Amino acid sequence: MAAQRQLIARSEQLQDGGRGVRFEVQIPGETAPAFAIRSGGAVHAYLNRCRHVPTELDWQDGRFFDSSGQYLICSLHGALYLPDSGQCIAGPCYGRSLFKLQVEEIDGQVYYLPVMDK
Ligand code: FES
Repeated sequence: MAAQRQLIARSEQLQDGGRGVRFEVQIPGETAPAFAIRSGGAVHAYLNRCRHVPTELDWQDGRFFDSSGQYLICSLHGALYLPDSGQCIAGPCYGRSLFKLQVEEIDGQVYYLPVMDK
């Protein structure tokens, strides 16, 4: 089913390993917080919901990376996630993954593509 894409950021707002952009998505039964970051040159987006306890990850608004700029970190208990896949590689939710969202970057703009397969 086709759905309206949603503009979430300008490309220059997302620097590799830098601050993320928060936005909201409609998922079955709720409006949920989400975020986009850039890593390895590509934009990735996830529900802003840790896989340990369903809390938001950012320790300050839009701060999702750890101090190395290599991993996403949960502010509550420090779970580390790979920024390109969302897989937890350390912490209490080891092996689980953030809920990945589809995004595309076109002409300096980043869009969320609201495609829900389930
Ligand atoms: S709530 Fe994220 S690591 Fe515990």
